[in-house]
Amino acid sequence: MLIVYYSWSGNTRHVAETIKKLANADIVEIIPTKPYPTSYNKVVAQAKIEADTKYKPEINTKIPNLNEYDIILIGSPNWWGTISSPIRTFLSQNKFDGKALYPFMTHEGSRMGSAETEIKTLCPSAKIFHGLPIRGGSVKSADKEVENWLKQNRLIS
Ligand SMILES: Cc1cc2nc3c(=O)[nH]c(=O)nc-3n(C[C@H](O)[C@H](O)[C@H](O)COP(=O)(O)O)c2cc1C
Repeated sequence: MLIVYYSWSGNTRHVAETIKKLANADIVEIIPTKPYPTSYNKVVAQAKIEADTKYKPEINTKIPNLNEYDIILIGSPNWWGTISSPIRTFLSQNKFDGKALYPFMTHEGSRMGSAETEIKTLCPSAKIFHGLPIRGGSVKSADKEVENWLKQNRLIS
């Protein structure tokens, strides 16, 4: 089992680390080649254009042994109602034939938005399971919710 995530301000990283602890899974953080602005207003404006154009920024992260994993948990912040751009790049650069993908997302109200639909479009040969949306402001108290989701999906016992 592998966790792959992107996080701009740390919330999705927190959930990814919680999953890692609970499931004892491997974990990889996606790093964009060109860092996003640290200013909230700037990143929001840039991400709006990227979401509208389905932009795929260059990323530094390569996972040479991705084939060894049958179960991949994909973590992203909700950006303008869908996955963040670096996750879009990761999903479009790799083949997921026959793999099981479990999305998780942190958000401030839009929950999964259209993320699952976009993931299905990007990874047509994968089996995509119902995602886990966690409010960004509540990630520190979400351990039980994360654990329940993992149990419901039989990813842990
Ligand atoms: C560029 C940008 C766009 C966002 N768009 C949305 C949105 O459409 N809906 C929503 O509920 N939250 C939105 N948010 C809030 C983030 O999804 C939320 O704060 C998330 O927990 C951030 O995760 P991170 O700390 O891993 O980057 C947005 C935040 C940013 C920075």
